[in-house]
Amino acid sequence: MHILILGAAAGGGFPQWNANNANCQRARDGDPKAPAQTQSSIAVSVDGAMWCLCNASPDLRQQIEANRQLQPRPDGPLRASPIGAVVLTNGDIDHIAGLLNLRESQAFSLFATARVHGILRANSVFNALNPEFVARREIDLSTPFKPLPGIQITAFSVPGKVALYLEDPSQKDLGTSDGDTVGLEIMNIATGRKFFYIPGCAEMTPSLAARLRDAPLVLFDGTLYTDDEMIRAGEGVKTGQRMGHMSISGPAGSIRSFERLGVKRRLFIHLNNTNPALNLDSPERAAIAASGWEVAMDGMEIRL
Ligand code: MLT
Ligand code: MN
Repeated sequence: MHILILGAAAGGGFPQWNANNANCQRARDGDPKAPAQTQSSIAVSVDGAMWCLCNASPDLRQQIEANRQLQPRPDGPLRASPIGAVVLTNGDIDHIAGLLNLRESQAFSLFATARVHGILRANSVFNALNPEFVARREIDLSTPFKPLPGIQITAFSVPGKVALYLEDPSQKDLGTSDGDTVGLEIMNIATGRKFFYIPGCAEMTPSLAARLRDAPLVLFDGTLYTDDEMIRAGEGVKTGQRMGHMSISGPAGSIRSFERLGVKRRLFIHLNNTNPALNLDSPERAAIAASGWEVAMDGMEIRL
């Protein structure tokens, strides 16, 4: 199975348009130790020919141009794309806005939970995806589906939060309900090999831990290094917990939570522009490496 990291950064990307912190300034200066990263998405293929996108980021056009595998083959028909399916893990802007790049009456299947399909239906701009060509398929949680021949995905609910622009402060948990945030177990049917893609997760629960135990590969929420890093940097008022993301460090953080799970290869993905781990020479990046984790980067290809 081919796994292509299209975008390793969180919403806003790295650098983010209005962020002027030292991290972003280094990336803007083209510092090779602070390489720019686009917004949250991966692509998966079993044959290297047809690809399934997991999330469609606002940077999708740039990501297609940066990755030959996602472009029409030179010997193909006049209108063509190797992108045959898109699977969404939530309704966040960084995960759905790229759908607008996929208009132009090109056939593909679009998989999402009922909750996330509801968000798309409520925003008429997504009608730009011609229903005669784009099949909207509802994901039934925990029932496996095949987005493309040879690939099987099982989506499961993870602790998270309703999309930022839909938060309702008058409701419990801001109006979050089951199906707002899912993780994906992605399997190559021919080999039985599988990995997990979980770009947003607020907490390691016993059921999530059981699901991930001994997995060969997990791509996991790396939004913030420390829960209060945005507040301490003076760049925001929210903790990671408030945003629906568990942080990398700390007693309830992901490094600690994965310690006894036996996951062979672990990569952080969906990094916010304030996260010092975006800098290749930061002590936080070194601490991540020392704990056996990697940090995903745009253009990285993983074979499983
Ligand atoms: C998130 O992952 O928390 C969201 O993408 C935030 C946002 O929409 O800016
Ligand atoms: Mn996000």
